[in-house]
Amino acid sequence: MKKINIDNIVNTHVKKMSAYSSARAEYKGKNAIFLDANENSIGSVTKTIHNRYPDPLQIKVKEELAKLESVTIEKIFLGNGSDECIDVLIRCFCESGNDNIMTFPPVFSMYEHAAHIQNIGVEEVLLLPKTFQLDMDTILSKIKTNQQLKIIFICSPNNPTGNLINKEDIETILNSFDGLVVVDEAYQDFANNKSWVSRINEFENLVVIKTFSKVWGMADARIGMLFANKSIIDYMNIIKMPYNVNQNSQNLALEALQNLAQKNNFVVKLNEGKKYLLKELKQISYIQKVYPSDANFIVIKIDDANHLYHYLTNQHIIVRNRDKAPLMKGCLRISIGTQKENELLIDQLKNYKVPSHS
Ligand SMILES: Cc1ncc(COP(=O)(O)O)c(C=O)c1O
Repeated sequence: MKKINIDNIVNTHVKKMSAYSSARAEYKGKNAIFLDANENSIGSVTKTIHNRYPDPLQIKVKEELAKLESVTIEKIFLGNGSDECIDVLIRCFCESGNDNIMTFPPVFSMYEHAAHIQNIGVEEVLLLPKTFQLDMDTILSKIKTNQQLKIIFICSPNNPTGNLINKEDIETILNSFDGLVVVDEAYQDFANNKSWVSRINEFENLVVIKTFSKVWGMADARIGMLFANKSIIDYMNIIKMPYNVNQNSQNLALEALQNLAQKNNFVVKLNEGKKYLLKELKQISYIQKVYPSDANFIVIKIDDANHLYHYLTNQHIIVRNRDKAPLMKGCLRISIGTQKENELLIDQLKNYKVPSHS
C-alpha cells in the first residue's frame, strides 16, 4: 500500500478537535426513553412523524452501501450531496489563506467554488486540448514545487468533457503526491471501467466520490458518498455538521439500495439514449464535432454555440452552454433525456437554420 501520514496533512486545528457529541450517540442500547435532545416527544405537526433527530453517522445506509462497494463502513462518509463531501474534505485538509488544491479545467466548478469559499487557492492545469486527458508533465512538475498543495481533484468521467481519465495517469499521480487525490466518479456508472473504490486499500491517499444524484435518479434527496481510508473519514466526521443527512434522505437511500436492478436498468436505458443521440447528432451537418462520452451527457461543437443555445431555449429545450469554459469554445453539453425528449431535441436541431455570419 502507498502510505502517507494523514495526521501530517490534516489541518492542525482539526487535529485538536473532537466530534460534536450527543447523549444519544453515547447510549448504545435500544428502546430507551429519549429525553436528551429537547425534541417534541409527543409527535409532529405533519401527517408523517419527524420528531426525532436522524442518525448522525447514517449507520444503516452505510451498512448497505458497504455491501455494495465491498468496503467496511468506517471507510464511508455521507454528505448532503457530494457537494458537501467536497466542502468538508477541503475544510478538513486545507488551511484557509495558506493551502491550495489542484484542478484540471474544464471541470466541475464545485471544487474551485468550495475552495474559494474558504480562501483556499486553486492551482489549475488545463486538460490537453485534443484528448481532454491530463497534462502529466506540468502536473508532476507542479506537484514537486507546490509545497502548499493538499488535494488534487480528478473528475472521471470528466464533467463537462465526458471522457474517462487514463487510469495509468491517475496511478502516477497517486504514487507521486503525498497529499490527497480525489477521483470524482459522479458519472462512473455510465462508463466501462472499474470504480476506483476497489483501489482504496492500495493507496492511503485515494478518495473516491460518488452520488445518488445521477444514475440513481435521486438528485433532490441530496445524498453524496465519499470513500476513503478510515483515518481520512475519522477527521471528516469530526468537523461535519452533526445531522448532515436528514432522515427522509437516509430512508430513501436505504430504499434505493434495495433496488439495484432498477439502477442497472437505468444505466442500460440511458446508454441506449446516448447511442441514439450520438448517431443522430453525427448526421447533422452543421455540428463540427460530437465528442465520445463515458457519461450521461454529450458534448457537441458548432460555430456559434450561443446562437444555437438561444434557439434551443426558445424551443423550451435547455442545454448547458459551455462556450466560455476553457478549451470548449463552441461547445454545448447535452444531458441524455427520455427517448421522447431526445427525439424532440433532434427534431429541433434538424430545424435549426445556421446564421449566415457563422
Ligand atoms: C462531477 C460531479 N461531481 C459532483 C456533482 C454534485 O453532485 P451532488 O448532487 O451529489 O452534490 C456533480 C453534479 O453535477 C458533478 O457533475
